[in-house]
Amino acid sequence: MTVTDQLRQLRAHAARLADQPIAALLRDDPARASDMALQVGPLYANFARQRYDRAALDALFSLAGSAEAATRLDAMFDGEPVNATEQRSALHTVLRGNLSQSATARDAHVQARAANERMRAVASQLRASGVTDVVSVGIGGSDLGPRLVVDALASPSEQGLRIHFLSNVDPASAGALMAQLDPARTAVLLVSKSFGTQETLLNGRLLREWLGAGASGDDGRLYAITANVDRAREAFDIPPERILPMWDWVGGRYSLWSAVGFPIALALGMDGFEALLGGAAEMDEHVLGAPPRENLAYWHALTAVWNRNALGLATHAVLPYADRLRLLPNYLQQLVMESLGKSVRVDGERLANDSVPVWWGGVGTDSQHSFFQALHQGTQVVPMDMIGVIGADRDASAGTANAEALLANLLAQSEALANGQGSEDPHRAYPGNRPGTMLLLDGLTPRSLGALLAMYEHSVFVQGVIWGINPFDQFGVELGKQVADRLLPAVRGEAEADDPVTRELIGRLLG
Ligand code: F6P
Repeated sequence: MTVTDQLRQLRAHAARLADQPIAALLRDDPARASDMALQVGPLYANFARQRYDRAALDALFSLAGSAEAATRLDAMFDGEPVNATEQRSALHTVLRGNLSQSATARDAHVQARAANERMRAVASQLRASGVTDVVSVGIGGSDLGPRLVVDALASPSEQGLRIHFLSNVDPASAGALMAQLDPARTAVLLVSKSFGTQETLLNGRLLREWLGAGASGDDGRLYAITANVDRAREAFDIPPERILPMWDWVGGRYSLWSAVGFPIALALGMDGFEALLGGAAEMDEHVLGAPPRENLAYWHALTAVWNRNALGLATHAVLPYADRLRLLPNYLQQLVMESLGKSVRVDGERLANDSVPVWWGGVGTDSQHSFFQALHQGTQVVPMDMIGVIGADRDASAGTANAEALLANLLAQSEALANGQGSEDPHRAYPGNRPGTMLLLDGLTPRSLGALLAMYEHSVFVQGVIWGINPFDQFGVELGKQVADRLLPAVRGEAEADDPVTRELIGRLLG
C-alpha cells in the first residue's frame, strides 16, 4: 500500500474511534497514561490524551516505516542533499554534534567547531570593549531562535551585556531602540544568511548611521553574521575579523545553533551556548538511534499527522506554561509553517492530503483569560502541545504559591480540555475530547531548551518525510518580496501601480 493510501486509511481508524472520546479511551486502557509517554534526557512527553488507540498507533508507525523515515533521517545526518529543490544538505545537526561517519558531515562539523572558537574569541573581545548593549538585527530565522533563547534563559545582569533584537522594518522599532540606547556603548550585529534581506539591510543602515560611523565606515562596533561575506564587506564595509560565518548547508530557521546564535552566546556566555548545543545533540542522538516506537520525534510527528489527516484538525496550539517561553509559539510558527506550508510534494506532484495546520498559541495562564473559551467550547477542535517546567517552584524568586498555581492550572487545563464535563444546561456543558500532548522540561535550562527545540526540528522533518514535502525550502515567501520591490516606486509617488485595488489603497495611504 502506498503512503498516500495509508494516510487515507487513517481516516478509517478515526471513524472507528469516533464514539470513543479521550476519557473513554483512558477508561478502557488506563495503562496508556504511562505507556504512551517517553523520557528523553531532560524532556518528558505524554501522548495519552491523544485521540488514537493502540491499533491506530500501529497504523501510524507502519506509515513511518513505509515512508522510510529512518533512511531519510540518516540521509539528513549524512549531509545528503535532502533539500532537493535547492540541491543542498541540511546539516544543522553537525552544529551540535558529530554523529555521522560521512565525510560531508564530518567536514561541516569541523567548520562548525572552528566557527565556535571564533565566536568565543569575538565574544570576549566584545565584552572587553566597554560595550554595554548589543543590538542583533535580523529577521525570520536570523531573529526568532536567538530571541526566544535569550528571552527564556538570560538573566540580564549575569554577563554584563544587554541584548536587544531588531527585526521589523517599521521605523518605529528602530526608533524606539535608538531612543533608549547610547550609540557609543552599543555594538550592532547584522545577522543575515543571505545579506540580501530588505528589512535587515535597511535597519542595518539606520543603526550604522546612528553608531556615528567615522571615515572608516564604522568604528569597530558593527559585526556581521552571514554566509555572504562579500556582500557584508561591499555593502557595509565590515572587515573579515568582524564577520562570523554561516553556510548554505544550514537553513535559516534551523540556524540558531550556528553563529546566528551569537546573541545567545553573548547573553549566556559561550559555555551556556555550548550547553544549549549539548541538549540538542542529546536529542539528535536519540532521534537517530532510538527505534521508532521509542523515538520522541516519531511520536510527535505521527501525532501531528494523525490530528491533521485522520481527524482533519486545521490548527494546532502551542501553550507554554512558563512565561519565559512566551516566544516559543512565534519561533515554532516559522519552524513548522515555513517548513511544511506546502501543497506540492518534493517531486512536484500536488499533495493528495492536507499538510501543515496553522500553528499558533500563547502563554498559560494568560491565554486562559483570552482564547481558552474557544478551546473549551468552540466548534473547532484545536489539538495542542502544553509545555511545563518541572521544579519551576524552586526557581521562583517571587513565591511558591504562584508556582503552585501555575502547575495546578497546567494540569487542570490539560484534564478539563480532554475530559470535559456534562451538564443539563448546554451553556455550561464542556464537550472535552480536545487532544493534547504534555511536554515537561526538567528545568528551564540551556540543555532542556536545546533538547526541546531539536525535538521540534526532527518532528518537522519526519512530518515532511510522511507528506513527501521538502521542509527546507521556502519559495512561498518570495512573491511578496518581489511585489514589494516592484511597488516601491508607486509608494514613493514616482509611478502608478498596475493593480486597481493597490492603486486605490496607495491613494489613501499617500493622502
Ligand atoms: O522569510 C524568508 C526568509 O528567507 C527566512 O527563511 C529566513 O530565515 C529569513 O528570510 C531571513 O533571511 P536572511 O538570514 O538571509 O536575512
